[in-house]
Amino acid sequence: MLGNFTYCNPTKLYFGKNALDGLKEELPKYGKNVLFVYGGGSIKRNGIYDKVVALLRACGKNIFEDGGVMPNPTTEKLAEGCERARRAGADLILAVGGGSVCDYAKAVSVSAYCGEDPWEKYFIRFEEPSADAKLIPVGCVLTMVGTGSEMNGGSVITNRAQKMKIGHVFGEAVYPKFSVLDPEFTYSLPRYQMIAGIYDIMSHILEQYFSGTDDNTSDYVMEGLLRSLIHSAEIASEDPLDYEARSNLMWTATWALNTFVAKGKDTDWEVHMLGQAVGAHTDATHGMTLSAVSMAYYRHILPYGTHKFARYATNVWNVPAGETEEETARRGLDAMEAWMRKLGLAMSLGALGVTRDMLEGIAASTLVMDGGYKTLTREEILEILEKSL
Ligand code: NZQ
Ligand code: ZN
Repeated sequence: MLGNFTYCNPTKLYFGKNALDGLKEELPKYGKNVLFVYGGGSIKRNGIYDKVVALLRACGKNIFEDGGVMPNPTTEKLAEGCERARRAGADLILAVGGGSVCDYAKAVSVSAYCGEDPWEKYFIRFEEPSADAKLIPVGCVLTMVGTGSEMNGGSVITNRAQKMKIGHVFGEAVYPKFSVLDPEFTYSLPRYQMIAGIYDIMSHILEQYFSGTDDNTSDYVMEGLLRSLIHSAEIASEDPLDYEARSNLMWTATWALNTFVAKGKDTDWEVHMLGQAVGAHTDATHGMTLSAVSMAYYRHILPYGTHKFARYATNVWNVPAGETEEETARRGLDAMEAWMRKLGLAMSLGALGVTRDMLEGIAASTLVMDGGYKTLTREEILEILEKSL
């Protein structure tokens, strides 16, 4: 393992059928005023909204609604949410939705009383909330699987004017205090979102797997998570109402990005930097922005991490060894690509509305990370985007 670390994850999880009953235990811990945050209306159509309202009422809460959180939440919406949270005197933010809703709730939590422009403070200067800052506690009821936002400090916000989409990973104080994970709540997801979430999970694991050269327990854990993910994705793709598969996907997503598997390791995150830049320019679905750039990126960095890519091919994709380690590695990526195509993921930027004239701008919005097998130059970023087109 690399270096020393501390590990603490403060989020309490309620998992499984009827997990929403966990709210009866959690809600009494907070004051009366609840900012009830949700997205574009899916929770009203699938009945989750009514269940949550009934529980909030039963616990004697004053409900202040903040709906309309869009996928890829924006700085404008964040400003609106901060205003609502202050007016409500919110004692708790209850986020009911996918990663966008959970991320937004965390952003409101740290921004409502921060006294300065949160975009500049948290997403450009990457500052932490000051020690005496008033943070509003967040709880989540998850309805979409993929981001891991339910058990981490991540919050990704889009600045449309600046064409930047940036994530800040906050510390323990900003993690959800609790999250409700009922796999049945994900049944109503459109197929496009389900598979986008599945690839988001895969990408989170690979961002943490493709780095380092040491013998590391985290890598073995990730291989197990990937095998479960691939298996359950195939079942859910055939039968979206298969509880076992949907529950496995939900649990894998949480473990993929609750910081556990990153411990004792370098991590990469360049696929996410590319995907977020694409998102900033197109507003495309997060998981699809990742699938569209992944194959070009991984084939580009394979020569710098051949041994790990060969291990991935063997341990995750069960491909027969080639004559050389590089051939084995390439076969692994071919198997991954075939799986992605079968699932129906976006495999090109063109499928997301990107045109050649946008590539320079997307490259300019791409942050460069240095934890993976190759730190990309500007030219390489452009080359990968071109190959992804
Ligand atoms: O808005 P509603 O009407 O609820 O519809 C949503 C939205 O259109 C719909 N949906 C969610 N649950 C549903 C449902 N539709 C029917 N039935 C349900 N049960 O799905 C659409 C997408 O929702 P969204 O929350 O945007 O998806 P996701 O969970 O993928 O979140 C994406 C955001 O999370 C960020 C992404 O960048 C993006 O902004 N990320 C957050 C991370 C973190 N906190 O650690 C890490 C990730 O890498 C990611 O960057
Ligand atoms: Zn992601």
